[in-house]
Amino acid sequence: MTATSADLFSLSERYYLPVYRPRRIVLDHGHGARVWDREGREYVDFGAGIAVNALGHANPVLVAALTEQAGKLWHTSNVFVSEPPLRLAEELVEASRFAERVFFCNSGAEANEAAIKLARKWATAQGREPDRRVILSFRGSFHGRTLAAVTATAQPKYHEGFEPLPPGFRYSDFNDLAAAEAAMAAGDVCAVLVEPVQGEGGVTPATEEFLLGLRALCDRHGALLILDEIQCGMGRTGHLFACHGYGVTPDVVTLAKALGSGFPIGAMLVGAKAGESMQFGAHGTTFGGNPLAAAVARAALREISSPQVLANVVRQSLAIRDALAALDAELGLFSEVRGCGLMLGAQLREAHAGKAGLILDLCVEQGLLLLQAGPDVLRFVPALNISDEDVAEGLKRLRAALTAFVNA
Ligand SMILES: Cc1ncc(COP(=O)(O)O)c(C=O)c1O
Repeated sequence: MTATSADLFSLSERYYLPVYRPRRIVLDHGHGARVWDREGREYVDFGAGIAVNALGHANPVLVAALTEQAGKLWHTSNVFVSEPPLRLAEELVEASRFAERVFFCNSGAEANEAAIKLARKWATAQGREPDRRVILSFRGSFHGRTLAAVTATAQPKYHEGFEPLPPGFRYSDFNDLAAAEAAMAAGDVCAVLVEPVQGEGGVTPATEEFLLGLRALCDRHGALLILDEIQCGMGRTGHLFACHGYGVTPDVVTLAKALGSGFPIGAMLVGAKAGESMQFGAHGTTFGGNPLAAAVARAALREISSPQVLANVVRQSLAIRDALAALDAELGLFSEVRGCGLMLGAQLREAHAGKAGLILDLCVEQGLLLLQAGPDVLRFVPALNISDEDVAEGLKRLRAALTAFVNA
């Protein structure tokens, strides 16, 4: 007998550690920016698996890359080398315009964990004592759920109950350069970790002054600038790397999410300054740089780098922004629409604070998958190659959901 969605949902409640609260649909298959559930209902996908499926679902180029590699070699471990991850590393170094070396892993948290370890090792090699190896990060940030990455995540709600947290982390206000300067004044900060566009924390871009200012502060205090581009990288801002749009040269960039466009892979890219600080035995992972993941990521990198995809990001961003402005004029819901490229956030007005989750439920009823960034922000991170038609249809469904919300 075929299991119904309700049956499968019960299984998730019975067997999964209850750390997630998924919406009550069971997704079955997808194509481009559309997804279908077990009952055959179709949805426009404006969430892309949390900014992961940058080239949509079942992209034929990625499927071909995966299938070809699947028939050749799946996994070697890093005791051996194989061509797909080597080529991917070469192509990422070239595309990044700053990196010299790459470390592959499997997720965003692991990429940030590697960057934190690298910063500490680098500072150690400079002769800095442990109490002068502080990592500075920013309120509203999100860097992942491993213990060091969650400690760098400057949001108390992610820390509660997991104490003792590892020492050597300090927090400052995002987009407040004077505060960062004060936080670094003692000269004990070895690295600054920052998202060029804060994602989970509310879709807030760093100002140019802030990011360029952090670069200057890092230079002045002999600290590394680590950019977490896990969500905002890989074309999402309309530039392949978010830092290219800011004209900032980092020392380290972390990537994951869209890097494999749905196949798990993360990476830490390291520039010349710290490229030699991790030597044999300093770090490692069994699966990192797996040939299957690397083959898909190479194909994704080629596609995402194309002028057509990057131009589409800019064009669809304008279309969504215009539509959100029109919706706000009609329904009076948003106090601000912000973000870059296809990473947009609509901040709910005070009167609707805390209602993002409810709006997402209404969107599902209308056949739209949308995300929130905290309780007050609707987050739009669709596939970067989403079509005009899918954008228009998604926005039509959004209008229906928001109309139902204001009329409820
Ligand atoms: C900016 C940023 N960094 C790190 C992470 C953690 O990535 P992962 O969930 O793959 O560990 C995320 C995930 O949302 C993220 O948005």
